[in-house]
Amino acid sequence: MMMKIKMELTKVKKDKPISNQLGFGQFFTDHMFIEDYTDEKGWHDPRILPYQSISLDPAAKVFHYGQTVFEGLKAYLTIDQKVRLFRPKSNFKRLNASNERLCIPAINEEHVLEALKGLITVDREWIPTNPGTSLYIRPFIIATDPCLGVSSSKRFQLIIIMSPVGSYYKEGIKPVKIQVEQHYVRAVAGGTGAAKTGGNYASSLKGQELASKDGYSQTLWLDGIERRYIEEVGSMNIFFKINGIVVTPELNGSILPGITRDSMIQLLKSKNIPLEERRISMDEVLEAYHNGTLEEAFGTGTAAVISPIGEFKWKDNRIILNNSEIGEVTQMLYDTLTGIQNGSLEDPFGWTITW
Ligand code: COI
Repeated sequence: MMMKIKMELTKVKKDKPISNQLGFGQFFTDHMFIEDYTDEKGWHDPRILPYQSISLDPAAKVFHYGQTVFEGLKAYLTIDQKVRLFRPKSNFKRLNASNERLCIPAINEEHVLEALKGLITVDREWIPTNPGTSLYIRPFIIATDPCLGVSSSKRFQLIIIMSPVGSYYKEGIKPVKIQVEQHYVRAVAGGTGAAKTGGNYASSLKGQELASKDGYSQTLWLDGIERRYIEEVGSMNIFFKINGIVVTPELNGSILPGITRDSMIQLLKSKNIPLEERRISMDEVLEAYHNGTLEEAFGTGTAAVISPIGEFKWKDNRIILNNSEIGEVTQMLYDTLTGIQNGSLEDPFGWTITW
């Protein structure tokens, strides 16, 4: 059933940023989407409004207990001037998986996709067109009950905002340097590591700050029990190519089930490149480095796309990959993924929705 979305358009359109100065998440489009939830009415009152501040009671549970989830997905303008979304159904499915973990009521995935298409259509002229740019979409849900008891909220808001973006890292597609975190951990199985919730990112900030101080772009998180097995990077899943085989940590309950990660697994399989999803330790990576079989490493994520890794620092070891240059498989994955996203390549996987 179609849903009725209220629409209030802005009278004053903002100036658009210059396409080669976008950075990540700094500019926001003219409109946003909001929908409310109460136990009595369920999700209701969907509306597209001019982009604006929201007013919340200072006791709203989201501020105190972090009951919130979010997603990140992207829209592109294809070379034939159509709007293209990449795997939005997977994002809304994952949003509901996160909702389940955080005791947030499920959204109607079809309705929200319909609303998102309406929002993008209204702000279509905000989709940047320079190579490497896109419209980043951030749906999120917050608990709004003004009550300090630690219990699940009975009221929520779903909001979607959109931001024209360039590359997530200042390095762009050049290899990034990553520090392996020894002391702090991001998540453990049974916790919320596999959900996309603010707390996971809050707990990653300290490691990120330490890495930045040492001149590294990101933190690589190890497992929370033995501090040996590789989990994920602050904003990406991670892959290694060792002796011709691509290896990525298996989904173990504490790693985010990345949609770009899943896309790369499908892509590698379709190209008959050997791939293993399994536990992989830093000892194994260091050994492969020393015996000359560590060929490539790269991160994957919606924001980061495919980011080659040029160096890891782990304890006193500096592991330099591929002369700090992008590897062959990493480049192929980047070209294929971005080609499917911008419409210059066929989408044999049915990942995209175009209109
Ligand atoms: C994404 O890749 O969309 C993310 O959510 C990562 C980060 C910007 C939080």
